[in-house]
Amino acid sequence: MKNIIIAANWKLNKSPAETRSFFHAFNEEFKKRSSYTQLGPKFQVVFFPSAISIEAASQSLKGSSVKFGAQNIYSESQGAFTGENSAKVIKELDGEFALIGHSERRQYFQESNSLLNKKIHHALKSELAPMYCIGETLEERETGKTESVLLAQLTEGLKDITASNGKSLVVAYEPVWAIGTGKIATPEQVKDTHAFISKTLTQLGLATIPILYGGSVKAANAQELIQIPHVSGFLVGGASLEVASFVDLIQNSQV
Ligand code: PGA
Repeated sequence: MKNIIIAANWKLNKSPAETRSFFHAFNEEFKKRSSYTQLGPKFQVVFFPSAISIEAASQSLKGSSVKFGAQNIYSESQGAFTGENSAKVIKELDGEFALIGHSERRQYFQESNSLLNKKIHHALKSELAPMYCIGETLEERETGKTESVLLAQLTEGLKDITASNGKSLVVAYEPVWAIGTGKIATPEQVKDTHAFISKTLTQLGLATIPILYGGSVKAANAQELIQIPHVSGFLVGGASLEVASFVDLIQNSQV
């Protein structure tokens, strides 16, 4: 049985009140189905609420094995960095993960591989597990650049990350053209790309790092995708916003 992580990226959605009411329903529904008992080191569920709703998530998930984290952290934990998020504060709220390098951060906030590398090191030092996102645009895929783009994102973003300092690292592969578009990569594309990422991570001395797939994952396609070699779970946007669809997706991701 493979170790699986199902992560929910809520992006800029859900206020603190909406977060509380989501978890109220989610905790009930999740307990009702057998899913609850399956959680542990081998099957993890992680939520990434928007920054201002993290404290509400923290309160709602007290005593639960469901984990949470931040969608973004800065590479420093305090100081004159107006508008940024602190890993130390996330940790204080019992958060365990930090999403780093989501394609929307790369695209709208010009985050480079070298900045993301600093954030990954800072997350690890702060004892947050970094979930590092990589992925090619449609143009890059159509012009045959997928592998070179992923290679640069991995080698530059994971510079000086080793098997010993990067134990908690997770990589999430999200083809940019499949995010929020309903356009899912074919199982063949997922298989080939995950094999390439796994080979690259092995060359970087990071052979055991889990690789998640993301981009229009939903309950209906989770079962097929989770069977693919080197797919260790999903990073889910749209389908994580409603309790029923997300719990269905979690159930369909068990192998
Ligand atoms: P999506 O988003 O599931 O809505 O495509 C995934 C993501 O951006 O992480």
